[in-house]
Amino acid sequence: MPLDKKQIARQFVDRFGQSPQWIIRAPGRVNLIGEHTDYNDGFVLPLAIDRAVWIAARPRADRSVVVRSIDYAEEASFSLDVPVKGGPGWIEYVKGVAWSLQEAGHELCGWEGVMSGDVPREAGLSSSAALEIATARAFAALGGIAWDPIAMARLAQRAENRWIGVNCGIMDQLISAAGREDHALLIDCRTLEIQPVPFPPGIAVVVLDTATRRGLVDSAYNQRRDQCKSAAEFFRVPALRDVDLELFQRVAADMDETIRRRAMHVITENDRTLQAVEAMRRGDSAALGMLMNKSHASLRDDYEVSSEALNIIVQSALNQVSCYGARMTGAGFGGCAVAVVDRESTDGFARAVAADYQAQTGHTPAIYVCHPSNGAEAISHGWHVPEERRAC
Ligand code: GLA
Repeated sequence: MPLDKKQIARQFVDRFGQSPQWIIRAPGRVNLIGEHTDYNDGFVLPLAIDRAVWIAARPRADRSVVVRSIDYAEEASFSLDVPVKGGPGWIEYVKGVAWSLQEAGHELCGWEGVMSGDVPREAGLSSSAALEIATARAFAALGGIAWDPIAMARLAQRAENRWIGVNCGIMDQLISAAGREDHALLIDCRTLEIQPVPFPPGIAVVVLDTATRRGLVDSAYNQRRDQCKSAAEFFRVPALRDVDLELFQRVAADMDETIRRRAMHVITENDRTLQAVEAMRRGDSAALGMLMNKSHASLRDDYEVSSEALNIIVQSALNQVSCYGARMTGAGFGGCAVAVVDRESTDGFARAVAADYQAQTGHTPAIYVCHPSNGAEAISHGWHVPEERRAC
């Protein structure tokens, strides 16, 4: 059962003895197509999923933030006056977002709350971005700050880059902040323009968690970023977004072999993402599926960020007649794949893929049918609090 607002409110009452003032929800995401393109100023097509990080909170009179993590069975606190880095741990995400919002000039209020989530961790479903956006949403609600999803996603990304030290792009935070029910979002990662794209009728998005977790992902991720930068320098453009296939093919022979393959992925992936949007708009699930399959092959062979477990689960999915297409999703090296499947057949699909994958690898996968959801929301609890009134 997914978490809901009643459960998180009850947790708050158990800990603080009163009702919370705000209930916050920020979703994880799955990326349909457009992988490793966001930091190349390219295009991505993610959807927010119906798994989220929840916070229940009420204001405090002082400048402390006190949070109980239900999932870690731990409580932590810090002062908004002097947020200092305290090493690894979930509270660093909360602190990092507070630092980033304050650095951008926002005046924050102290609060106390409980937090819990059902986004699987380190699976490529952006549990960290969901935590950051939930935190930003809480600070905005309690501090009377108008919610601007794009600006807040940028500040949450800055927290991840500068406080946590992970050099991610903008996709995960932006989809968690701005997701739209029943839609994927085409995001232009240069302009941050967003276009909601409806799903063709009769299809379901299914997440296939390999139950393997990524090792050394940060160093491999940073290495791919550096390689893309070298490729952009080779073409003398600001980012690989500015290179089309025609230019690439004209000069590719002169490139270093590895850099050439990395660039090839990014350039073709941008193109596939825009084609996938067209396919979805004309209701062409088969074309969408084909593009996803090509994306997987490109990530596996040219970008080299897939893994054996991901390749096996993708192949198991493709062996089912009800599957239109499948690919690894997120940064890679483990975690999840995503498949587009005939809606009527999802139960049989999930059973067959689970059995096949388990027989081949010995791992028990987790398989979820996703409902594309809205981005972060703040619900005032018990009594009406105008959104833009400061709690402190
Ligand atoms: C991670 C990063 C994103 C994006 C993907 C790959 O999820 O956080 O910014 O780069 O990998 O598409």
